[in-house]
Amino acid sequence: MKTKINGIELAYTDTGQGLPVVFLHAFPLSKAMWAPQVAGLATSCRVITVDLRGHGESEAPLWRYTIEGFADDINALLDHLDLHHVVLAGLSMGGYVCFAFYRRYADRVKALILADTRAAADSPEGKAGRYAMAQVAYTQGATAIADAMLPKLLGNTSLQTRPDLVQSVRHLIATTQVSGIAGDLMAMEARPDSVSLLSRISCPTLVLVGDEDVATPPSEARVIAEAVQGARLVTIAGAGHLTNLEQPEAFNRAVQSFLENLT
Ligand code: MLT
Repeated sequence: MKTKINGIELAYTDTGQGLPVVFLHAFPLSKAMWAPQVAGLATSCRVITVDLRGHGESEAPLWRYTIEGFADDINALLDHLDLHHVVLAGLSMGGYVCFAFYRRYADRVKALILADTRAAADSPEGKAGRYAMAQVAYTQGATAIADAMLPKLLGNTSLQTRPDLVQSVRHLIATTQVSGIAGDLMAMEARPDSVSLLSRISCPTLVLVGDEDVATPPSEARVIAEAVQGARLVTIAGAGHLTNLEQPEAFNRAVQSFLENLT
């Protein structure tokens, strides 16, 4: 489905009934990464997945990408769906959007699921890396970004034993528009630190991380889980950064048990 949000066409899926859970994807992927969650969770809750601007079937304008802007797009989508209160689930960059959304619209957040993400802003080296990667996207295209990102996104177990998954993640990245990739990189580079926000989060929070995640390692998840009061931390064995795709059953089990305790 598509709707016009803040001047662009935004694509989303809306499957199942009950408690609404909105899933926000990682960089530089799309809502397609949540296929195992649509398949496994939509029997027990309402699964909404969104292509952030610049991704998947959403429009990819040349500029105006900020993490706060992504949060504003989600807020407008919730208005469109007539949903006041939702569970917000974000993986990595999707987690950055969750933090921004919570800063602006906390009253709409029933609970948070923060997967393979970090609260800290980029270091100076990290910021420089964003510009370098945007330049690669501009000069060499999205396939070069796929080559650079795959070893960071998938854990050793998946890289060695799941050629099908490697291929499908490669395809997702390679089909992302360069304006979306560069826009995300500028947005992530400019995002504020969210560490000071953590102690102000008062909704139930689940923190998930793959034990082979090298992009946002388990130490980053512990920072979040220790600072958010009452947060539950689940470490998923045999998964890298894309826990939901690499170990979908374990990911879905953790989400399902967290949601059951909310209702
Ligand atoms: C992601 O998976 O969204 C990225 O690894 C986030 C980042 O580069 O900071």
